[in-house]
Amino acid sequence: MDKKSLINTSNLPRHVAIIMDGNGRWAKEHNKPRIFGHKHGVLSVRSVVEAAGEIGIDYLTLYAFSTENWNRPRMEVTALMQLLVNTISNEVAELSKNNVRLMTIGDLGSLPNNCQRELNNAIENTKNNTGLTLVLALSYSSKWELTHAVQQIARQVQQGSLQPEEINQTTIDLHLQTNLIPDPELLIRTSGEHRISNFLLWQIAYSELVFSNKLWPDFSKEDFFDAIIDYQKRERRFGLTSEQVVNE
Ligand code: FPP
Repeated sequence: MDKKSLINTSNLPRHVAIIMDGNGRWAKEHNKPRIFGHKHGVLSVRSVVEAAGEIGIDYLTLYAFSTENWNRPRMEVTALMQLLVNTISNEVAELSKNNVRLMTIGDLGSLPNNCQRELNNAIENTKNNTGLTLVLALSYSSKWELTHAVQQIARQVQQGSLQPEEINQTTIDLHLQTNLIPDPELLIRTSGEHRISNFLLWQIAYSELVFSNKLWPDFSKEDFFDAIIDYQKRERRFGLTSEQVVNE
């Protein structure tokens, strides 16, 4: 059945975030080195970007490399960075053709120079596109992001330009990497793991969570549409009662 036709386009999440997990296990199942799984993971990235664009999602955030991933074997880290450089340079024209705008969140300065160059170039080349915004989380973790936000706010208090009592949720929002991005209404994690793994902890306060048993390289457009359909079946209450939500 055509899953896309089951989606109600007037009730789409504006922002979908994805924890892409299971590349290593997928490679193991195929008796291949881990990087083989990451390479196939890129094909799923492409499918999901296409799918999100097709139905009119505004923001898609992909957890591509966490702060903790730096602790993986050096060979895997190097291969992942190279894969990122190659993918961005191969895909930037296609992204532009599809009106996709690229953004990143995370500690970009910690990435290798060629990686930063390629990313900055793609960000610059796509900055005026008005379709899907694709946000890559790179060298990102929520605790890193929140620590930085607190440091910036503390500096303003120290300089006297901000009073502690003036700090509210908006102050914190404005100091996060995601300050220009709405909070995700939907978070998807693949590979059957039920964890958040230090991803967008503040921003997912009211997000719907969808867990897929598929390993990331097996995650298809149809699986993405399934997650959207699942989301549309949920009632989002934001702390209210069901009656209050229905009568609103
Ligand atoms: C998780 O699988 C995946 C990653 C840490 C990297 C994700 C990277 C890609 C899909 C490729 C590059 C991305 C872009 C956006 C070009 P895992 O290695 O943790 O799998 P495991 O849990 O089975 O070991």
